[in-house]
Amino acid sequence: LEFKKRYYSGERRVELLRDRSFAILFEKPSTRTRVRFELAIVQLGGHPIVLYSHELQLARGETIADTARVLSRYVDGIIARVKKHESLVELARHSRVPVINALSDREHPVQALGDLMTVRERFGRLKGLTLAFVGDGKSNVCNSLLLAASMAGLNVRVVAPRPLWPSREYVEYAKKMCEDSNCTVEILEDPKEGVRDADVLYTDVWVSMGFEEERDWRRRILRPYQVNRELIQLASKDHVFMHCLPAMRGEEVTDDVIDGPSSIVWEQAENRLHVQKGLLAYMYERV
Ligand code: CP
Repeated sequence: LEFKKRYYSGERRVELLRDRSFAILFEKPSTRTRVRFELAIVQLGGHPIVLYSHELQLARGETIADTARVLSRYVDGIIARVKKHESLVELARHSRVPVINALSDREHPVQALGDLMTVRERFGRLKGLTLAFVGDGKSNVCNSLLLAASMAGLNVRVVAPRPLWPSREYVEYAKKMCEDSNCTVEILEDPKEGVRDADVLYTDVWVSMGFEEERDWRRRILRPYQVNRELIQLASKDHVFMHCLPAMRGEEVTDDVIDGPSSIVWEQAENRLHVQKGLLAYMYERV
């Protein structure tokens, strides 16, 4: 929030990362994360180098370990979006510099950071609010929301068909966090019960990257979980609607919801730029 305030008051560049450079590596497509990280580093006075794995020697068989060994002798940090979480772990194991997860098949932590910033900006607090994630409860976005929201003291509901309930590992971790943060974690099957009186309704695409072969099954099983005008009537009257984007309009959300008065998806998308500056400042003022 502080970086956003400074940006709007005209302080567009804060030289916290002067003389630092970063490799931003993509194994998967991205619109928002790619632009936001590049801009965040520039706005902090650093130098970003965007790399696509298909253009690197990785595509010809060089190992992730060797790529990490070399890149980390050039740059001060590696930001990576990977197909398999294990690739991120491998990068970090062989890197001399910090590695930031810009999305893996398991988690999307920078998204969750921006989401919490957006909720706090809207409500002025996090503790005690109820966030209902509706849809694919096994998705990377849902996993990261379970972890981040419970740490911050939000009550978290995952509202999903049973085959797409989150894994026990994430639920147990979130419940443990809630013991300290005094919040609750519920996994529910009934969409109407799940969204009732919720302050934040959140959804994501039904077919995440890498799950295209399950498209038909997912569309069928998730149909009752579409966030539409009828479903949002059950949420708190002051609720907000969130989506990490890209959205598949007409599938997980209808136009009248994402373009409607309770939608804060564009603020949410914008805030990722500022939260990523916050993350980098937090990390590199200490490195
Ligand atoms: N939400 C998000 O990470 O968007 P991109 O996939 O476009 O980066």
